[in-house]
Amino acid sequence: MHVIRSVAHMAVWRHRLHQHQVTVALVPTMGALHAGHQALIRAARLSCDAVVVSLFVNPTQFDDRRDFARYPRTFLADRNLCRQAGVDVLFVPSPKDMYPSGFQTTVSVPKLARRWEGEHRLGHFSGVATIVTKLFCLIQPQRAFFGQKDYQQSLVVRRLAQDLDLQVAVEVFPTVREPDGLALSSRNARLTATQRRQATVLYRALVAGEESIRRGQRSATRIQQVMNSCVAAQRGVITDYLAVCDPETLEPLGQIGRSVVLLGAIRLGNVRLIDNLVVTQTSFGKRQPR
Ligand code: PAF
Repeated sequence: MHVIRSVAHMAVWRHRLHQHQVTVALVPTMGALHAGHQALIRAARLSCDAVVVSLFVNPTQFDDRRDFARYPRTFLADRNLCRQAGVDVLFVPSPKDMYPSGFQTTVSVPKLARRWEGEHRLGHFSGVATIVTKLFCLIQPQRAFFGQKDYQQSLVVRRLAQDLDLQVAVEVFPTVREPDGLALSSRNARLTATQRRQATVLYRALVAGEESIRRGQRSATRIQQVMNSCVAAQRGVITDYLAVCDPETLEPLGQIGRSVVLLGAIRLGNVRLIDNLVVTQTSFGKRQPR
């Protein structure tokens, strides 16, 4: 496995592959890799000739400097994981190389980025969209792999790839969970033992919302109430949002239609967690609401 640390070196490597018509899969990450990333790397490995994992804690997608400083950094473990997973290139650029002095271009996907994470983390999606576009332009992957845990991010990335004709297939893979349902996230490492137990409430709230849909509930307000009361019953947890949305536009729904995404974000101390569940028509029940 090559570890490439500069944009210039990455460009040379990519240019060489073009000459040999090698297909490239990209897994963009911010490091602190876990089984969720491993699943993406495995899928990437099966899909293309060469796999690039980028590892860059992107400063422009953090609206809070302390959150950026606290983000877990585990380079040696990440490098081992990538090596064992058969990654060809680990791309680890520096912030100065990605954002040299004078940098001013940004990419924004305003409608999809407006609500939810976009509302609670100002500028977050512009930071994500800009860095992902830069990675796509530099590495020119045929396929790029993202986790469904960051549902809104995956829609933003799909949109920008299509709008900018970037010729990359954006693949989104199911969230990997702990046995108790907690979605794997690099941020989980920052939870205390008590917070770790409390954190499962987010998934439990989403499942309660899903069950209420299965039982026939069609009112988004009612479903939201079910999810909210679930989190409210858990001490030490603050809800940022629990929402019932259209899975493509992310606009809040009044009545449930053919399919829906339940989105949630909670805070435990200074750790913020997000999760989601997509509920489709096949999982809707026929019973009347209680
Ligand atoms: O999901 C992440 O880890 C990041 O938002 C990404 C896509 C690597 C961009 O920095």
